[in-house]
Amino acid sequence: MTVFRDMRETDLGHVLEVERVSFAAPWSESLFRDEIGRPDRRWVVAEDAGDVVGYGGVMVVGDEAHLMNLAVDADRRRGGIARALVWRLAGEAAALGAARMTLEVAESNFAAIELYRTCGFDGAGRRVGYYPETGEDAVVLWSRPIAPALRAMNAARSGEDLILAIETSCDETAASVLRGGSEALSAVIASQVDFHARFGGVVPEIASRKHTEALVAVVDEALAEAGVGLDDLHALAVTQGPGLVGALVVGLAYAKGLALARGLPLVGVNHLEGHIYAARLLEPTLQPPLIALLVSGGHTLIVHASEWGRYELLGRTLDDAAGEAFDKVAKLLGLGYPGGPAISRLAADGDPQAIPFPRAMLRSGNLDVSLSGLKTAVIQYVDAERGAGRELRLPDIAASFQAAVIEVQVAKTLRAATDHKVRSVVLAGGVAANPALREGLRVALAGHGISLSVPPMGLCTDNASMIAAAAHDRLLTGHVLGLEADSVPNMRLDG
Ligand code: KG4
Ligand code: ZN
Repeated sequence: MTVFRDMRETDLGHVLEVERVSFAAPWSESLFRDEIGRPDRRWVVAEDAGDVVGYGGVMVVGDEAHLMNLAVDADRRRGGIARALVWRLAGEAAALGAARMTLEVAESNFAAIELYRTCGFDGAGRRVGYYPETGEDAVVLWSRPIAPALRAMNAARSGEDLILAIETSCDETAASVLRGGSEALSAVIASQVDFHARFGGVVPEIASRKHTEALVAVVDEALAEAGVGLDDLHALAVTQGPGLVGALVVGLAYAKGLALARGLPLVGVNHLEGHIYAARLLEPTLQPPLIALLVSGGHTLIVHASEWGRYELLGRTLDDAAGEAFDKVAKLLGLGYPGGPAISRLAADGDPQAIPFPRAMLRSGNLDVSLSGLKTAVIQYVDAERGAGRELRLPDIAASFQAAVIEVQVAKTLRAATDHKVRSVVLAGGVAANPALREGLRVALAGHGISLSVPPMGLCTDNASMIAAAAHDRLLTGHVLGLEADSVPNMRLDG
């Protein structure tokens, strides 16, 4: 357990050890001695089992706080200590009257720059040759207002946070107000599916235009439905990636504008992580470690979550995503777009064993899957049947295709769950709306005493409540965006 407290002179031995290995030009002991106890300074250490594992200091002048130094023991990095120190210092600085924080960081220190950018700092220029020892330039960063961010984090800790989330990664414009990380006060979704249907898939250009047209009204409706005004909110959340770049930027630009205008902190959420959080909306007690099978129109992933926010990618599709396979086969069968719901409806009346479609990679020894061969097999089957002048038995084709997809997904997910000895599996993403997949996976896991969490149908496909749920946890760990943040169309879950 890491605790944070004021720095004392007796800490300096430990502090100097970390200082020496962290910086090309470490501060001297006398410099630290001179700092501690000054009325306009605050120095804080992170302590674990009696050892100082990190520290930082801030100087306040007027309403500006200068973050002077911050370091974490080399083998304790990536554990959230540096981020916690930033916010602890922000709290101290705010108590001394600071509204924002600024700092300089060596331009080659990418890890530090990334940390500050995801603590809501933006670039404000550079100081050329700032570090005389190396001749390196410093990047100057400024935080967004710290008081609203601290207020939002406190509200999240006490479970009273009101977050407005916006989702525009693909073809649904969605907004939702969520309280305390799991209570959806509103959930508005404007689907563009009708505009894309005649093209048989999502047209990126149309998607971004439709988001632009719908977003303001969708947000207004989400606030009205929740009975909440902009002044009541603690934070805004927005899908940062992955998704269609032209669609993502609409949501992010709007969210940044609103965040700037209202002085609200902005949380960027990974869309795929959002899908996993959809399960927690129904089941607030759901806890990692868990395996998630994420099957949507753009992704097919098996993920191990050791804790919320920490993911390892175990397997993925080598070609088509599961939803994409449903959509392509549906198009081939003339069932329209999106194909998933149409195929699952037809499949309910078909025989899943009628046609022995291939189960690619079922015994591949890893957790990857491949779906394009299955799609080709369906095409060949349909061509052969038509060539022979036979009428297509659509329910049988749908049921047999669906069974082939499900058998492989279930087998791989079960193996991931038993390999990692988890007690819970989450099924998420648009394809999780498929009743046969839900049932097949539930039965297979139950045989091993593993429970399955599946979001209610409406939360399986893209929505903003799941984005708000993930944002609640990101607030708890101090992740907020600066206004220079970009959309990340290929954002990874395990980055
Ligand atoms: O997660 P989602 O709404 O959007 C993406 O992020 O991709 O997933 C949409 C996908 C579409 O490919 C759609 O065909 C599929 O989910 N889908 C289904 C079902 N309902 C939606 N696939 C199989 N069976 C369903 N019942
Ligand atoms: Zn999605």
